[in-house]
Amino acid sequence: MFKFRFSGDKEDEEEDKDIKNSTLNWISASKVEVLEMQVEKQYEPVDYAENKIFPGCKLKLIRFEKALHDLQMENCTNIIEAESQNSDLIPAKYEGGLKIWECNYDLSQYLFKNDVEFQGKLVLDLGCGNGVLGLIALLKNSIVHFQDYNVEVIKAITIPNVLLNFDDRESVLKRCQFFCGDWESFTKLRSSKGDEFVKYDLILTSDTTYNPDNLKKLYEVFKQRLKEDGIGICSRVLRLIAGKSYYFGVGGGIRQFQNLIEEDGIFDVETMWKTRDGLEKKILKITRKQQS
Ligand SMILES: C[S@@+](CC[C@H](N)C(=O)[O-])C[C@H]1O[C@@H](n2cnc3c(N)ncnc32)[C@H](O)[C@@H]1O
Repeated sequence: MFKFRFSGDKEDEEEDKDIKNSTLNWISASKVEVLEMQVEKQYEPVDYAENKIFPGCKLKLIRFEKALHDLQMENCTNIIEAESQNSDLIPAKYEGGLKIWECNYDLSQYLFKNDVEFQGKLVLDLGCGNGVLGLIALLKNSIVHFQDYNVEVIKAITIPNVLLNFDDRESVLKRCQFFCGDWESFTKLRSSKGDEFVKYDLILTSDTTYNPDNLKKLYEVFKQRLKEDGIGICSRVLRLIAGKSYYFGVGGGIRQFQNLIEEDGIFDVETMWKTRDGLEKKILKITRKQQS
């Protein structure tokens, strides 16, 4: 099992600085097609678990161990390297999408329980990992684009999770598209018709603001790809209250992201939900300022 580097000791900090300071090669964005053999694949009950996302919502999700095993069999070097380092994140190589992160559960519940309009909307699950936010949007009759940095994650986890939760696979896939690669080039990726950028009614993202070096790229996705009347919703751990001595990326994160958005002056940012249960967590809503 991959682990957060909780210890926060000097060695880890030095390692983090080295990673930050080196020049990283971010993989360009591209569309991931679903193969016929994936559509037809039958999963054994041992391959997945029925996860309680929150009371009243269970989803079938591929087990972490199964995905990891499949990726090892395919000799996926980025994932093998992360595992050998016992790490959840290796910047620009593996960005953590194989597991479900803390705030995904909060945002899922928030989306399910609050008055968010999904019917017929075009939704982006940005940094989707397991794709739980997108699955909820699909259950509420949206059209969903799933984006994750790692193509491995899209193939081994996100696509199977969609297939597991809908009996009519052909039909649900008509409401989905899948993308991999870096946010910077994803912002500039044109639709299959080639001449236009797809714009979204809703952009959902959870636990994606941990790397201060990537906040500008992340923000550009909202700025360029959210419709005029679109809504962005973002969740993340704000700070530590008690418990673990270290949580990846706390200290940068959503506060810096919020500052960046507010300084640009194009969007209004509203805190929709906040909790303090060991980790202080927050959900932000982002909408374009009305022209006066
Ligand atoms: C920590 S995981 C969170 C996954 C999922 N949203 C959750 O909450 O369980 C961060 C996600 O952001 C995506 N991500 C991080 N940096 C990225 C980048 N520079 N470009 C594209 N995607 C990125 C990763 O692929 C990963 O899925």
